[in-house]
Amino acid sequence: MRSFFILLVAVSLAAALPPEEQATLKALPLLAAKCASCHGEGPEETEGGLNLLTREGFLKGGETIKNLLVPGKPTESFLLKVIRWEDPEYEMPPKENARLTDQEISEIETWIQNGAPWPDPARRQEILFSQRKKKITAEGILIDTSGGLSDSWTFRRYQTDKVWAFLPLTKPALPSIEGKPIDRFIRAKQEEFQTIPSPPADLLTLIRRVTFDLTGLPPTPAEARQFIDDAANDFDSAYQTIVDRLLDSPHYGERWAQHWLDIVRYAPCKTDVSLDPVEDVPSERLICSHSTRRSLDVPR
Ligand code: HEC
Repeated sequence: MRSFFILLVAVSLAAALPPEEQATLKALPLLAAKCASCHGEGPEETEGGLNLLTREGFLKGGETIKNLLVPGKPTESFLLKVIRWEDPEYEMPPKENARLTDQEISEIETWIQNGAPWPDPARRQEILFSQRKKKITAEGILIDTSGGLSDSWTFRRYQTDKVWAFLPLTKPALPSIEGKPIDRFIRAKQEEFQTIPSPPADLLTLIRRVTFDLTGLPPTPAEARQFIDDAANDFDSAYQTIVDRLLDSPHYGERWAQHWLDIVRYAPCKTDVSLDPVEDVPSERLICSHSTRRSLDVPR
């Protein structure tokens, strides 16, 4: 009985989209992505005499298969057999790693069941535009960006837990544990995973850690001694001083420049990656040119 209910819920959720929207947003992009490269227009791209760029093409079928699509009748449509790999003669798309997932196959099934609607381009644009006005849909959330190179990137949807950094700030309730707010969150997670925090670091270990963290370098013996002496007097102020000093240090900038240069795959000599080596370019210009995607106007 319970599984019957679950099935009902699953079916009613999947059937949520009206036919033309389901076709535009789900089925047609799938067919275009999975079939069009080999079943397109040119003679070289029409494998098996099959053009899958139009509804007519689906209805006409190929050299052998004539019942590829029977609108409204998934069981009579050979298309489902083909994408399920049920007939060893016709397993499409032929590459194992390009196969449709069960979820994708069920979208195609729904589309056939709905009568295989194929809205004209204007109607499809209209559906896409109205979809893009919705900030949140079942597919996820739209993030405001300066735009991608194609619509599929610009209007890509994300699951909210994957893009928390782009969402408005919220004020979550503090876990009821002792300590400063950030420590309380960390402690709560540690408890969830049943890990025991390490004991507080001694002063020498602490200054080594914080210095390595921020500059990638060890503290000098004099700096370590100074910190240990100051901390004996007033720990909070000594710690504040050391962190401020490290953040002011040019080595802090160098440390992050190093991360950044790794990300843009900078290399001081030519390597097999696509970026050319860049000589004598101030780091600010290099970063600026990479972050604005402009090429560097310098002799190479
Ligand atoms: C990588 C290329 C490639 C892709 C992608 C591909 N096919 Fe094919 N398809 C072929 C080739 C090659 C043939 C002809 C040889 C054969 O019959 O196996 C063919 C034949 C067929 C036939 C038989 C046509 C006939 O009547 O003889 C059908 C049906 C078919 N494909 C459907 C599909 C569908 C649906 C998709 C997308 C889900 C798809 N194919 C994706 C290469 C591809």
